[in-house]
Amino acid sequence: MFRFHSTLLLAALMIAFMVCISGYAQQVVTRELTIDKQYLLLPVRTGAAKQRVKYLVDGKTAREFDIELDGENPSFWVFSDVSGFNGKKLTIETSAPQDAPGGLDAIQQSDTLPGAETMYHEATRPQFHFTSRRGWNNDPNGLVFFQGEYHLYYQHNPFGWNWGNMHWGHAVSPDLIHWKELPIALYPRQYNDWCFSGSAVIDEKNTSEFGQGGEPPLIAAYTSTGRGECIAFSLDRGRTFHDYEGNPVVKHQGRDPKVIWYKPGQHWVMAVYDEMGDSKGIAFYTSPDLKEWTRQSRIEGYYECPELFEIPIEGKTETKWIVYAADGAYTIGQFDGKTFTPETDKLPYNYGDCFYASQTYNNIPESDGRRIQIGWGRTGDPAMPFNQQMNFPVELTLRETDDGLRLFAWPIREINTLYDKLRVKKTRVTPDEPLIVTARGDLFDVTANIELMDASEVGFIVRGMPVSYDVKSETLRCGDNTAPLKAPNGFLSLRLLVDRQSVEIFGGDGRVYMPMSATFKDDTVALDFYCKGGAVRADSIRAAELKSIWPSENE
Ligand code: FRU
Repeated sequence: MFRFHSTLLLAALMIAFMVCISGYAQQVVTRELTIDKQYLLLPVRTGAAKQRVKYLVDGKTAREFDIELDGENPSFWVFSDVSGFNGKKLTIETSAPQDAPGGLDAIQQSDTLPGAETMYHEATRPQFHFTSRRGWNNDPNGLVFFQGEYHLYYQHNPFGWNWGNMHWGHAVSPDLIHWKELPIALYPRQYNDWCFSGSAVIDEKNTSEFGQGGEPPLIAAYTSTGRGECIAFSLDRGRTFHDYEGNPVVKHQGRDPKVIWYKPGQHWVMAVYDEMGDSKGIAFYTSPDLKEWTRQSRIEGYYECPELFEIPIEGKTETKWIVYAADGAYTIGQFDGKTFTPETDKLPYNYGDCFYASQTYNNIPESDGRRIQIGWGRTGDPAMPFNQQMNFPVELTLRETDDGLRLFAWPIREINTLYDKLRVKKTRVTPDEPLIVTARGDLFDVTANIELMDASEVGFIVRGMPVSYDVKSETLRCGDNTAPLKAPNGFLSLRLLVDRQSVEIFGGDGRVYMPMSATFKDDTVALDFYCKGGAVRADSIRAAELKSIWPSENE
């Protein structure tokens, strides 16, 4: 009787299996290579069927990811650093739907990057914003200054144009302007255990005891989607990381740990996105050593990528604490090392369509003292081998206004080092005679202080894209995005940073921050200024043409 049942069960299982494989027939093919070059180059076509690729080394899966492989008709090639397997036999296994275009045979070994000749000079590659050489980026992660370098880690899909396969990409800069992309810093431990967002600190006092030879370790706190909040330490200035063997250090429903050193209490604080049923919030944990964490408190009403920092009120010694999450809407209050006490409602910060999941730098030297923020710039051109960008770094200040304390965002002053030709216009502009500030160019820092006089509307047209101000309703507009903006004493202050995929708009000296993604037309005047309803005095319109931050093509 028992035997009869088990035979039936086996038959049923086999039928189920056959149905499965006929529905989702997967073709598994392998190829073996001896690694003698730095990279594997893989052909990608966005929209091709996803294939699951494994690198097997010594019989074990060393890497596993999804990729839209297409060896016949690739739109671009991505690269995968395999220098760690040099001299070894590596088996590439692809598992693809029957009708997938294939591509395993097209994968090549190489010591140079795909498209190296045109790298950073592709038609719409941003020229003063960070972008990844290949693939996708979203959130900035692990923003930290250490030994003369600003680190920018970031959510990265090295294998495709869209989000997926989350790694921590890595770039460094001596000045927050010129970036050098370095090898990937954090690899997923295994398929489905992705490295989601997080932060980085310098453990100056070696509280973690990861440091060696008197050098403080750089420690990343990140979400492992398979395990929880984890830490990893680096002893080589943030280049390579060792996962802490006691991971995860915090287990809860949530993600995106932002860790800071709380000086008055001499302990670490983690602000981390925390879900409790339907309630979305930020939980605060404390730790003496980054390994043992104690849950202290929680605030409700915030979603993803929390931030927590102290900032002085401009011109005073008094400080406040700021909390915000991915949308940037911030609350001003007090923080005692364990609990955040709000003193305001949530205040709007970003008015554009090109901002999310920003983070501010840890460990900026006291002699500098700035609070510097980088946001994820949601742009993208499907014709490019990369997707998305980082917004231009802004300095945050907390200022007294008629409405109370408010955060202001302003491009970091280092942008001046990119100034090339300066076009200054001193003029009266009338509705009949718009002002062509400059006919050509695609990279600008435009500042304008405009006396509105009798005009009902003023604005710039940036390569065909209008940025306008309606005087009566006191509204700044770009596309579908609007922001309330005052023009005190009849003077309007505007600043525009124009790159190839975005215009970042700053109104009222940075009170209004409106980063916008842009798709420009080529055959338009680069920058003109107009007014309607009456003349204006545009005595100080200054447009600085900007140099590219990338090495020139023949370097
Ligand atoms: C925000 C976010 C984070 C997460 C990451 C994954 O953009 O959803 O919450 O850690 O992106 O890439």
